[in-house]
Amino acid sequence: MFEKITSQQAIELEDKYGAHNYHPLPVVLAKGEGPFVWDVDGKRYFDFLSAYSAVNQGHCHPRIVNTLIEQAKTLTLTSRAFYNDALGVYEKFVTEYFGYDKVLPMNTGAEAVETAIKLARRWGYEKKGIASNEAKIIVCDQNFHGRTTTVISFSTDPDARINYGPFTPGFVTIPYNDLPALEKALEDPTITAFLVEPIQGEAGVMVPDEGYLAKAYALCKANNVLFVADEVQTGIARTGKLLAVNHENIRPDMIILGKALSGGMYPVSAVLADNEIMLTIKPGQHGSTFGGNPIAARVAVTALQVVTDEKLAENAENMGQIFRQAMRDIKSDMIELVRGKGLLNAVIIRPKDGKEAWDVCMRMAENGLLAKPTHQHIIRFAPPLVINEAQVMEAAEIIKKTILSF
Ligand SMILES: Cc1ncc(COP(=O)(O)O)c(C=O)c1O
Repeated sequence: MFEKITSQQAIELEDKYGAHNYHPLPVVLAKGEGPFVWDVDGKRYFDFLSAYSAVNQGHCHPRIVNTLIEQAKTLTLTSRAFYNDALGVYEKFVTEYFGYDKVLPMNTGAEAVETAIKLARRWGYEKKGIASNEAKIIVCDQNFHGRTTTVISFSTDPDARINYGPFTPGFVTIPYNDLPALEKALEDPTITAFLVEPIQGEAGVMVPDEGYLAKAYALCKANNVLFVADEVQTGIARTGKLLAVNHENIRPDMIILGKALSGGMYPVSAVLADNEIMLTIKPGQHGSTFGGNPIAARVAVTALQVVTDEKLAENAENMGQIFRQAMRDIKSDMIELVRGKGLLNAVIIRPKDGKEAWDVCMRMAENGLLAKPTHQHIIRFAPPLVINEAQVMEAAEIIKKTILSF
């Protein structure tokens, strides 16, 4: 259907005509199915990035594809100037699925984070009684919440910020996984929310101490501060539970979702909250042309149904245990540490003879497995959650062979 091009042509085109805001591995993908992708020459790879945990349901899941095609042939976009017959159905489904009064639909993760920030500020002024323009949100060191100007205003990554100022004020940064720091920051009565990733994905799969989230939640409650969980990467079965906060049995005041909410088929994001928070935004005060469009609504329902029907959380939990054990069994001084939850894992690479995580990823690609370093020494391993045990073992063998080849 589409004109075929070679790897070299594809790379040259992106280099010449695209902005240089990414540094991809030199692999040109043309097809995907389940946990696999194929390059333009037909070589098969395990996909251990899953588009940064968006493709949890596996590439081109037939049920989600069918939904997308059916709705695309029927009605694609109405804007929110009118009602459509898909949005309300989705809103009922997703709020019941996660157990909140209401959902606010957006498209990308960063937009959903922006939405949660607006809601937190609104709630702070209108419910908590913070003086106008004084509300602050506590965030964590090494966070990653997206790329908009406000979101990078509270990033601590120099690459994300350099020469993008001036920045949005109103954020207080504390170390991650540090309860005394949170307790101290919460003494400020102008704090309206604590925004946190249950596991810091982009930071290198930083798993906090057991009990951290539950205690942080309790501290927020004691101080009348909203606990806002950014589950864009950790959510929707990735860590072995539907939400990563389920590991500690807490119910955040707001949940931010994106990525796998569509199975990677379409940009669909959302904020979930109860009426007290959500109804602080009135008609005309926030929105998005594409947010809540009929394709997004239908695709999200099917994507969530697949998560339930195929028991993806359970599979992520089981396959994650097998994967981490297989990594720990590799006898190499290049492996400094293995950590993670479910199928969100990382291996810390100790450089050897000048070879770093990037070199390991390049050689893994040659051997048929795709992963990407986050930071210089960390490789994240996050395959689609439909991966089975034989495939996990085959993938682990590729990783082992690669590491031992250095
Ligand atoms: C925790 C978290 N929040 C937000 C985002 C931003 O999502 P998007 O790239 O769809 O804007 C990401 C993306 O990696 C993320 O991991």
